[in-house]
Amino acid sequence: MTETDDIQQPADADRLRALLRHQASTVTVVTAPGPPLVGFTATSFTSVSLRPLIVSFCQNLASSSWPVVARARHVGVHLLRPGQQELARTFATSGIDRFAAPTRWRTGPKGVPILDGTLAWLLCRVVDRLAVGDHAIVLAEPELLWHADAGTPLLYHQGRYAHLAEHAGRRVAA
Ligand SMILES: Cc1cc2nc3c(=O)[nH]c(=O)nc-3n(C[C@H](O)[C@H](O)[C@H](O)COP(=O)(O)O)c2cc1C
Repeated sequence: MTETDDIQQPADADRLRALLRHQASTVTVVTAPGPPLVGFTATSFTSVSLRPLIVSFCQNLASSSWPVVARARHVGVHLLRPGQQELARTFATSGIDRFAAPTRWRTGPKGVPILDGTLAWLLCRVVDRLAVGDHAIVLAEPELLWHADAGTPLLYHQGRYAHLAEHAGRRVAA
């Protein structure tokens, strides 16, 4: 048996979860107007298409905010900055008011909650929702966006928050 054969394993949920710990992802918070207002931390945000503009995120069908996102016409997606780990934790904590202080936010266009101080945000019109297994893929068309001129994203890697650091002109994981 070669070394490669040695490390091949049939895929299952635990092994896939272990493999995905190696993937570094930008931490985002998805928000939607209610009532009630909802928001949740998500690393599943990604771009899908430029013509037309389409982005996506995946949401657990069992999450408390899914019934609101399932009906929402618009959603907000915020890319967090290093230093916003507490905000990420708040929007991943069950049974609390995620929009209560110290969370700072305002009501944006279409009633979508816009969080203060993020690296970037998009206001998107939901165009489709596809149930896939225990999650839904939400497809949405960005209508408005804002991003900082500079800065780096908050990342999630190996089950921890992380960020990029500048070293000798190149970026390295910190
Ligand atoms: C770093 C991180 C990334 C997450 N990414 C997602 C995601 O992409 N989709 C999702 O449905 N939940 C994701 N979650 C989980 C939700 O944020 C969390 O389960 C949810 O807000 C709490 O569940 P509840 O709303 O049912 O109380 C993530 C959590 C963390 C900490």
